[in-house]
Amino acid sequence: MKILVATDKPFAPEAVEGIRKVVEGANQELVLLEKYTDKSQLIEAVADVDAMIIRSDKATKEVLDAAKNLKVIVRAGAGFDNIDLAAATANNIVAMNTPGQNSNAVAELAIGMMVMAARNNYAGTAGSELKGKKVGIHAYGNVGKLVGKIAKGFGMEVVAFDPFVEKAAIEAEGVTVVDTVEELYSTCQYISLHIPANDKTKKSINYDLLSKMPKGGTLVNTARKEVIDEEGMMKLMTERKDVKFVSDIAPDSRDKFEADFAANVFFTPKKMGAQTAEANINAGVAAANQILNFLEKGDDTFRVN
Ligand code: 3PG
Repeated sequence: MKILVATDKPFAPEAVEGIRKVVEGANQELVLLEKYTDKSQLIEAVADVDAMIIRSDKATKEVLDAAKNLKVIVRAGAGFDNIDLAAATANNIVAMNTPGQNSNAVAELAIGMMVMAARNNYAGTAGSELKGKKVGIHAYGNVGKLVGKIAKGFGMEVVAFDPFVEKAAIEAEGVTVVDTVEELYSTCQYISLHIPANDKTKKSINYDLLSKMPKGGTLVNTARKEVIDEEGMMKLMTERKDVKFVSDIAPDSRDKFEADFAANVFFTPKKMGAQTAEANINAGVAAANQILNFLEKGDDTFRVN
């Protein structure tokens, strides 16, 4: 069977080798499509494959409809908002993700971005320290949990809001749980976002919520740009020169943010939270194993549709 790895942003070479070993070790064929520049290349590549691994690549209805033999698609990563799940289901394609496999890389970047903001983007001026500050973890999943763990090493106080995780389980890790999202934003100097992008969360980080941030409040986004109401963020930053916004996913209005609030924003050139060799190997190899387990044994653990 043919297993396609389609990555606009390629995995580290070691990860591709790891995937190749798993696939060819099972006597299946690996097809590689990297750094493609047009969706027509993806549509052409999916035509005769049985399974595929993607990252943030867009598996739209058009792509999935063109994949006549496709039985399973695995998003090597956590967020699967780039897969049209309804189209996958309609085409009898099983969709999966690989939760937890790239979390440490994202958590390390979130903390790194906090340090960067605290040191005024390394401008050479007197900044501040993370020690003794409160970090609010907005969603205590695989990444949020690790951010909390690392933040403790910095001497930060860790607070979390996550209505989907049992309060006692979070508290058992020495993390303070707040019952409302408003409380999180009003009490923490740093907010680290870890919510997925879906119909309920899009633009949910709005002016009302953001304006609760204390003096010097910093929003760190290593989740998805869609969850932030950019107009609201801009309104707040226009009113308050103390607020900072650092993000691994450039907002749509990146140019305006950078022009108007240069000293208080930082955006990575390309989403790079999960872009480490370790995360690529973990997520890529897990995806390959999940595909084989599904094709050989019907195991659909981590199915999302
Ligand atoms: C994820 O959802 O796992 C991260 O956003 C990583 O995305 P990437 O594989 O495109 O780097």
